[in-house]
Amino acid sequence: MKTNLLIFIFFSIMNLQTMSNTPKPFPNVTIIGSGYVGLVAACCLAKLKKQVCCADIDKDKIDKLKNKICPFYEPGLEELLGNAIDEKSIEFTSNIEIAIEEASIIFIAVNTPTLENGDADITAVKAVAKTIAKHLNTYKIICLKSTVPIGTHKIVEEIINKEKISDVTFDIVSIPEFLREGSAIYDFINPNRIVIGAKSKEVFDTVKSLFDNVNVKSENIIFTNNLVAETIKYVANSFLALKVSFANEISNFCDELGIDTIAVMYAVGKDERIGSQFLNPGPGFGGSCFPKDVKALKKMMEDAGVDPKLISNILSVNEAQKHIVVKRLCTLIGNDIKNKNIAVLGLAFKANTDDIREAPALTIIKELKSLGANIRAYDPKANSNMKREIPDITYCDSLNTAIEKADAILVLTEWQEFKNLDLSAIKNSVNQKIILDTRNIINSVRAIEHGFIYDAIGKNFLLRNSK
Ligand code: UDX
Repeated sequence: MKTNLLIFIFFSIMNLQTMSNTPKPFPNVTIIGSGYVGLVAACCLAKLKKQVCCADIDKDKIDKLKNKICPFYEPGLEELLGNAIDEKSIEFTSNIEIAIEEASIIFIAVNTPTLENGDADITAVKAVAKTIAKHLNTYKIICLKSTVPIGTHKIVEEIINKEKISDVTFDIVSIPEFLREGSAIYDFINPNRIVIGAKSKEVFDTVKSLFDNVNVKSENIIFTNNLVAETIKYVANSFLALKVSFANEISNFCDELGIDTIAVMYAVGKDERIGSQFLNPGPGFGGSCFPKDVKALKKMMEDAGVDPKLISNILSVNEAQKHIVVKRLCTLIGNDIKNKNIAVLGLAFKANTDDIREAPALTIIKELKSLGANIRAYDPKANSNMKREIPDITYCDSLNTAIEKADAILVLTEWQEFKNLDLSAIKNSVNQKIILDTRNIINSVRAIEHGFIYDAIGKNFLLRNSK
């Protein structure tokens, strides 16, 4: 009897020993939210050989994803999704509860839209936190990937502590995303930095291990606390938006004096302290991030009793820029824009996406309509999204159709196909040879050679000099 007991104890210890020596099975990762952030993260982590579950309350969206259908356009994502499904490295479910119970690392990647007062709406984040609390069956690391107001990690921790049905422990990590729409996959696999806000080095190391195969310098994987990590995202986006508004304000000044803004910004950007990116003047910034994050930072500063002078002006310069585009177009057409045919090339807030959220085209088209213009719009990817917002204009399925009998061509998005506009061909199909290029992508010399009145944001000197 005694021998048996000793043998049992021996094998139990041996078993424990081998268990502790066996490498930790890779933590199961659940990503809650299959939007721009969550779906890209899920498919990229799957590509990086992690076993991922992507969960969303939207059953229809999940059914489409299971059939390899992406809910939005992001270059390369549909292919990544298909491969991950074929390799069984990703699964999709609308059963959030099970997805939580089976995970050891959970990413909250739900949307945080802007409220009327400028605050980011964290209702969805709080709802997920409550569900996690109810299904906290083992220790979990909960990663906040959604862009959330500074201090949200504390709110999530309090909700889970208050609602959890067991004394199981957990940790909250803040891991903001810096993906750009249109290059999100590249940015995930080659980030210039990964910021992980965590309470302990051990938790940091666990989350960091998810990104072992990511192409990033180790010194650019930043271990910090939750508050700093939450703040970095807002400050980074607001600074990039500041650069864009600065470029737009300078271009309005240079255009008044006939100075080539593009040449000015090219040389300014050569100073490594300034950097050449985000200095291109245009119709104003859009997208689901810049406007939202700058508004949220402004509100957080006001709530903290700090006057957001500079931050507020990023937004006001941006809004004004859209109206400056309309004014410039009216000047080109001779101010009587009523019943004139305007070919609007580009609806998405930037190239390589179908996203029209906060796109300058929304404001500009509405203003042109209010002035009585006939709009013929074309965008390679965003037509259907814009049609849901502005149904009563003409949507064309090709560039050539849009410019037929146009009294002016207005370029709003820097799609590749607009860069190669065949000016010799189109000059015979337009009513008037007028181009307002808000993205500086048309060959201005050739436009003038073909008899177009060519104006561009930041290159008005050409128009002045061609008179
Ligand atoms: C941005 C941030 O770049 C990214 O790090 C963050 O995670 C999300 O927000 P995104 O919104 O996809 O990414 O677009 P981005 O490429 O940053 O451009 C933002 C806006 O600025 C676009 O409307 C773009 O057209 C405009 N822009 C950008 C300019 O007008 N001029 C420039 O020189 C650069």
